[in-house]
Amino acid sequence: MTQSLSAGASQLSVNAPSYVKNKKLITWVGQMAALTQPDQIVWCDGSQEEYNRLCEQLVAAGTFKKLNDAKRPNSFLACSDPSDVARVEDRTFICSEKKEDAGPTNNWMAPAEMRQTLQPLFEGCMKGRTMYVVPFSMGPLGSPIAHIGIELSDSAYVAVNMRIMTRMGKAVFDVLGEDGEFVPCVHTVGAPLEAGQADVKWPCSKTKYIVHYPATREIWSYGSGYGGNALLGKKCFALRIASNMGRDQGWLAEHMLILGVTNPEGKKYHVAAAFPSACGKTNFAMLIPPAGFDGWKVTTIGDDIAWIKPGADGKLRAINPEAGYFGVAPGTNFLTNPNCMASLDKDVIFTNVALTDDGDVWWEGMSDAPAHAIDWQGNEWTPAIAKETGAKAAHPNARFTVAATNNPALDSAWDDPEGVVIDAFIFGGRRSTTVPLVTEARNWVEGVYMAATMGSETTAAAAGQMGVVRRDPFAMLPFMGYNMSDYFQHWLSLGEKLAGSGAQLPKIYTTNWFRKGDDGKFVWPGYGENMRVLKWMIDRIEGKGQGSEHLMGVSPSYDALTWTGLDFNQDQFQSVISIDKSAWQAEMKLHAELFDQLAYHLPAELSATKAKIEAQLEQLV
Ligand code: OXD
Ligand code: MN
Repeated sequence: MTQSLSAGASQLSVNAPSYVKNKKLITWVGQMAALTQPDQIVWCDGSQEEYNRLCEQLVAAGTFKKLNDAKRPNSFLACSDPSDVARVEDRTFICSEKKEDAGPTNNWMAPAEMRQTLQPLFEGCMKGRTMYVVPFSMGPLGSPIAHIGIELSDSAYVAVNMRIMTRMGKAVFDVLGEDGEFVPCVHTVGAPLEAGQADVKWPCSKTKYIVHYPATREIWSYGSGYGGNALLGKKCFALRIASNMGRDQGWLAEHMLILGVTNPEGKKYHVAAAFPSACGKTNFAMLIPPAGFDGWKVTTIGDDIAWIKPGADGKLRAINPEAGYFGVAPGTNFLTNPNCMASLDKDVIFTNVALTDDGDVWWEGMSDAPAHAIDWQGNEWTPAIAKETGAKAAHPNARFTVAATNNPALDSAWDDPEGVVIDAFIFGGRRSTTVPLVTEARNWVEGVYMAATMGSETTAAAAGQMGVVRRDPFAMLPFMGYNMSDYFQHWLSLGEKLAGSGAQLPKIYTTNWFRKGDDGKFVWPGYGENMRVLKWMIDRIEGKGQGSEHLMGVSPSYDALTWTGLDFNQDQFQSVISIDKSAWQAEMKLHAELFDQLAYHLPAELSATKAKIEAQLEQLV
């Protein structure tokens, strides 16, 4: 069982409801209460009444502002402390016993040392606050692909967000039974209250630790109330801890959306796609086919994370472990993502967007700017102020939290415990140069190579510098729970095993919607027009789509894509699909740097693939 920090004495009764039968859980909650010393413990049941009560409490505390009910029914705005606005990658740790097992892409500290560091921080950290016991299932309750977590948090904001983002509540205890397994997640905002001390609207601490112990499958989060730092089912469990579970148990936990695509004949395919944070994943997952694609339908299974397990037939079956979307608001609008905007009609928690004078919300890129608003930091905001000072109405990483069931394009199988069979994987980088619009790998190893060497320009989803190209293998760089090279090997081994069992492996593609022209503007129109690329992939799966081979796979010729309804000429297509020898020579140097960094346990197949590409590049005129 879970190791815990040593607990002090506590008078507090755990008070578990009678329907909670899991002794390990009750003991652990007792230990954690003794350690963190909350004023009270509340076991969340996930009911609507509880959600309403907590939201009212958050309004009273000033954390939430209720939005105009006529415009945005049952919706709230939270504005965080300006120091707590994104995932803190530099404060995120993988505490495996050996440093090599965390690998060079993760921050590491030995578990014993980290436990010692955290002990004084967690001691009494919930004083003056309530500890919420949040039971949640990642994936449909009882699904063979799902797993259970329990988050203890001193934040009501976390409890209500978790109710939207996961299958949260009483029914989880039935699945857990007397001796079921759960991932223990402890979260504190790190701001204990002395007797009589007034609270602030967004309590948090300057000191932050987001800590994972892969061996004992524990998560400890200190000091932040925001997003992936605090909603521990998401990146911490569903990716960092689950990637460890997947490696040990033979499955995949991936930073991927899942969509269904149905052709006019009614045949349906499922695609899982990895894109770095804030690169339009939600848009792709909710894509509306453009003019000229009558009869085609895209439906959403998930927008961020996929858990994928091989079935008895060797096919890869995927579920969305989440039940809601924690999406980036800025840039979302009715033109680029009507389904998403429709999802945000009601029952939404917005974080760090602007408040309009009529009690609604606004963010950059949503619509014409309002004449006046209150920005995410509580300041007066007008277009003139923005022009003069550059002040943003919404923080660039402002978010919405909304239930998947709000999505008009939700797939009918989104909650199917058996998952959906994956026909293709897509790995999409964000690169203004070099990488073609779309490439199909000729085999599994080539696909793994393309995914492993993905590069991307950084976005606002993580604290730090924006727009810098960094290697982001599998779009998993900030989310890998173990050594990246071992993860590459896991993909290769799984592919080999499935192919050995005679199963048809999904095809693997890379995409890049973000190439820019000489004028610095994106050439590819993106959004719904990405359907043209998706259709080519489906054509390829059906053995129809034309393509020609190049350095690292197969890309379509101009005529292989359907252009009805879009004015996009051969020259424009050339500028997003072409392979430039000198750009690729420079690119291969970056692959070499990555492979040097990941040399420990780097699979030989990947070095061999690199050598093959380099040899072909030499021949290129
Ligand atoms: C997210 C992220 O929030 O990737 O999904 O940062
Ligand atoms: Mn993500």
